[in-house]
This record gives sequence, structure tokens and C-alpha cells, in this order.
Amino acid sequence: MKLAILSRAPQAYSTQRLRTAAQQRGHEVKVLDTLRFAIDLSGPEPDLQYRGRRLSDYDAILPRIGNSVTYFGTAVVRQFEQMDVYTPNTANGITNSRDKLRANQILSRHNIGMPATAFVRNRADVRPAIERVGGAPVVIKLLEGTQGIGVILAPEVKVAEAIIETLHSTKQNVLIQRFIKESRGRDIRALVVGDRVVAAMRRSASGDEFRSNVHRGGTVESVELTPEYEQAAVRSAQIMGLRVAGVDMLEGDGGPLVMEVNSSPGLQGIESATKLDVAGAIIDHIANQVGFPEIDVRQRLTVSTGYGVAELVVHGNADLVGTTLGDSGLWERDITVLTLHRGTTVIPNPRKGVVLEGEDRLLCFGKLEEMRSMIPERRRRRAKVRKLPKQPIPDE
Ligand SMILES: Nc1ncnc2c1ncn2[C@@H]1O[C@H](COP(=O)(O)OP(=O)(O)O)[C@@H](O)[C@H]1O
Ligand SMILES: [Mg+2]
Repeated sequence: MKLAILSRAPQAYSTQRLRTAAQQRGHEVKVLDTLRFAIDLSGPEPDLQYRGRRLSDYDAILPRIGNSVTYFGTAVVRQFEQMDVYTPNTANGITNSRDKLRANQILSRHNIGMPATAFVRNRADVRPAIERVGGAPVVIKLLEGTQGIGVILAPEVKVAEAIIETLHSTKQNVLIQRFIKESRGRDIRALVVGDRVVAAMRRSASGDEFRSNVHRGGTVESVELTPEYEQAAVRSAQIMGLRVAGVDMLEGDGGPLVMEVNSSPGLQGIESATKLDVAGAIIDHIANQVGFPEIDVRQRLTVSTGYGVAELVVHGNADLVGTTLGDSGLWERDITVLTLHRGTTVIPNPRKGVVLEGEDRLLCFGKLEEMRSMIPERRRRRAKVRKLPKQPIPDE
């Protein structure tokens, strides 16, 4: 394949390793400076210029978009997506993972363990939010920090309030998060490629530091993950739309607590801790997937007027419980079931013989008018209520 690594740091360890791994496997590979692209929307089809010239054809890209260039970088990735070039990480996935609040919101409906988190704006709401996540000591985080910068442990409620007020006064948005004591100074980084964890390490903070980031002096060691941790990592990456991701998890008493999902994980720490060829695994995955550019399903499907994607909940349609998909009458109503979600498992292309259960959720494509009548009243109401301001954040 012909692969472009989008990076502003051609000399960095990760970039070098990825380039070498691609070359060793006989691929043609170039490292292209993310900021030297020009997005061209002047012609009949989406196009890209690089350093002032029309870009040659690539089979795949591997975005390594730094935090400081998220907006432009994701615009370039999105342009490649529009041109049907494969990317393991979509522009949407990168954008979603970059903002810790947004990532938490997206993961929160999927049964992924996370530290209790709150987000408030008004001064009067700060103290109740701190209490709700468990009181002091409490963690305060800038929404878009990395490498441990912008993560603070406030020992007392009063101090926390003062810090949050100060940050608010300088227009900074912050998360209020429960301090996971039992994991103090330690966390797990799992490197997810495709549908599996290819390497994992435990990071331990140095001295009395509570942040275990390598950039904060943390040390690393290889770990064997239990299936529970592995599943949490893989599912988090999938939900975020990232096929290459570094998932950070705290080790809570009740199991893994996902803190963040990184879309451009560094390879140096994890390769040196585990002695595994992570770069090679990433390149192999891309080479395997090259025929399948990421398709924005909604963008493509909703083009047909009157048709769209909706999620039907079986328990809201009591007559469906206990019937098979074939007998459900959905097909006759011009509704195709794309996936069946049961607990944390997903059955793609469910067969006619599958018997529907009360808690099943069906992701469907079909006539919106037909599906509208099947979306249960209660869910629609709840969705509306959520949009109202000043709703209390539900307890976790
Ligand atoms: N809620 C928490 N409880 C305990 N430790 C935490 C918590 N949140 C973060 N940490 C520690 O701080 C480090 C940095 O936090 P993280 O959210 O990953 O920010 P960054 O994006 O800067 O790496 C984590 O690796 C972990 O060691
Ligand atoms: Mg982190």
C-alpha cells in the first residue's frame, strides 16, 4: 500500500518507528507535514494540495495530530475521508477524544466504568458538584490538557472551589472528578489496534506525585491485562471511533475506570516497557483494512429522503418481546436491522431466527415515518428533558 503518516514531527520516535515498520513490510510510506496541506473544495470532487501541488493517490493515512493543531489537522483528515482514503482514526474520533468532557459524555451511555465526573459553570453549582462526585480530595482537570498538565488534586473543598473559580474567571472550562484513591499514582495504558489490545503497561508516578504520566516522571512496566480491562479498553476505542488508541484506565476497587482515550498515543514508552512491535501491529492493521474507508453512515444514508437511522428499543414495543426478528414485521414495514445491541454485546446483521428480548436495542435503517411510531414515548421525553438547562447531573 501507499501510506501517508500525517505528522509535524518526522524525527520523533513514534513517527520513525511507524515509517520503518511500513518500509520493512514493503509498503511505500511518506511522512507529510499536517500543516502543509491545502484543502481544495473548488473542483467537482473533494481534493487536497500538498506543498502547493496536487497530492498523489494514497491508499491510507495514519494521522498523528498534535493537540496544538487539532482544528486544521482534523479538517485534513476529514478531507481524506471525503476522498475515500482509509484512516484508522476518523476526524470525528480525534475531535471527540481530544475533549475529556465530550469523551466522557459519549462513553457514558455504553456501560463503561469511569470516575464520577461533573461539569458546571455557575459558581453556586461548584460545591454541590464536588460533593456529588465524592467530596475532597477532588481532581480538577482542564478539558484539553495532555501529559498531566492541567490535572490538579485539590485537598479540600475550599481550595477546589478557589481553583475552579480562578480557572472560570480566565475562561477555562474544567471537569470536577472523583479522586480514585486506590489507584493513586498508578494507571494502565492499553494500546488498542483494531479490535484488540496489542500492548499494555502500568505507569507509576514518581515520589508523591499523583499523576503517572511519563512526562511527569512516571515509570513504566509491562502488564498482562485481565479480560475486563481488555474489554473496557477495546470498547472505549470502538465507541470513540478510533482503531488506533491509547486508553488510560485507573485501577478502581470495582474494576477499570476509563479516564481518557488518546488518538495519537506515543509508542516509545509502551514499546520499551513491553518489547513489543506496536508500530508493526499498527501498520499491519492499516494494510488489512485499506479496502474499507470509513463511511459516515448518517451522512450517506440520510441523503435518501424520508429514510434514516434510528434506534428502536424492544421493551417499548411490548409485542416484539419473544418474537423472532423474522416475525417482527419490521422488514415488511421497510425497516432493516443493522445491529442488535444486547447488554454490552453487539450482534451485527442479526438473523431472522434471533428471538428478541426486552432490553434489546435495534439499530435500524428505514422509513422514518414507520420508525417514529416505534420509538417509545418515555425515551423521547427523557431525551427532551436532558436538553433543558439546570438539570441535576445524575448520581453515578
Ligand atoms: N480521577 C483521578 N483519580 C486519580 N488519579 C487521577 C485521576 N485523574 C487523573 N489521574 C492521574 O493523573 C494523570 C493524568 O490525567 P489524565 O486525565 O490522563 O490527563 P492527561 O491528558 O494530561 O494525561 C493520570 O494518568 C492519573 O495518573
Ligand atoms: Mg493521560
